[in-house]
This record gives sequence, structure tokens and C-alpha cells, in this order.
Amino acid sequence: MAVQTLYQQALKFAAERHGEQKIPGSSIPYVAHLSNVCMEILFAAAQTAGFNLALALQVALLHDVLEDTNATDAELAEQFGAAVACGVRALTKNSASPQAEKMRDALQRIKQQPKEVWAVKLADRIANLQPPPAQWTKEKIGQYRQEAQTIYEHLKDGNAYLATRLKDAIEKYPPKEREWLAPNNVESPLPAPLERGRG
Ligand code: NI
Repeated sequence: MAVQTLYQQALKFAAERHGEQKIPGSSIPYVAHLSNVCMEILFAAAQTAGFNLALALQVALLHDVLEDTNATDAELAEQFGAAVACGVRALTKNSASPQAEKMRDALQRIKQQPKEVWAVKLADRIANLQPPPAQWTKEKIGQYRQEAQTIYEHLKDGNAYLATRLKDAIEKYPPKEREWLAPNNVESPLPAPLERGRG
């Protein structure tokens, strides 16, 4: 099946399950977050040899359905296959773990997955390092930045392109809304596509 068709099926499933959910602290529909994660994955795929784009996009689109909706492991396995279901499961925080353990536990489980799953976690955090909601305290912002640094340190070998993107986003975090939106803030043109069939 074409990657585009797999994408459409996963997006439809995710959009239906997330329903009316919004990006926390905003009025923006949750699927906008999923779109941002997929955008990072598409750029990374163009820069990464041997990248399984079908797996990465499906896991990206579905990465929060087990944590935030009524979707089940069995449904994912049946509709999208075992590899996608396992990837999404690894990206789902284990609610039984104590708070401090959750991140470490999740990172360990992600590291047992293919590199495409590591890439989704990197892409997810890049997408989340936008200007924080106005009500966030300095302490909360600092914690979020530290958490991003922990993700970077554990998963940077998963995808070189996304690791660089995340490192850069951490250094600039929190970006100011005004600077972030400035039209002259475009840093570089699109990256050149990977030259295939060489080296
Ligand atoms: Ni996410």
C-alpha cells in the first residue's frame, strides 16, 4: 500500500479518536500537533538513509492515541500492524509508574524500538518546544526544558537531523512569540534532498 494511503488511514483514525481535544493551553485542534510531528518526520526522512517512512508517519500520527483516547493496543495491531502498535505502546507513558520514573521508563522502552520510533519522540518534543502557554511559571518552563535535554541525551543517536533540530530548539527555549512569528526569521531554505544511490 502507498505510504500516502497509510498516512490517510492513520490520520483518519487519530482525528476521530482525538475528537474535540485541543493542544493543551490553546484552542487549536489536537491534530495540528500531529501534523507538526509528521512535518518534522518528512524533513528527517529526506536526510536519512534507509528510513522507514511508512512506519515513522503512522507512529507519529498515532503516538498519543493510547495515552489520550479510548483506542486500544489490539485495535492498533489489527488496523496498522504489530510494528506500529509496538511503537505507539513504547511512546505511551506507563501510568502505573511513579511520576519521576515515567520519563526514564518510557525512554528505555523507546530505545528497544526501531530508530523511526526514536525519531518520532525527537520530533514530538521539537514540535512541543513552541512558545509555552502564558500561565506557565518559570519553574515549569525550566523543567520542560530539562526534560527535553534528557530526551535529547538518550535519543540523539536515533536520528542525526532531528537531534540537531532538537538541540537548537532547546537552546532557544522558550522562544518569544513575537520573534517566533517574525517573517524575517526564516533561517534557511529547505534542506537539499538526500542524494540516493551514492556512497
Ligand atoms: Ni505528542
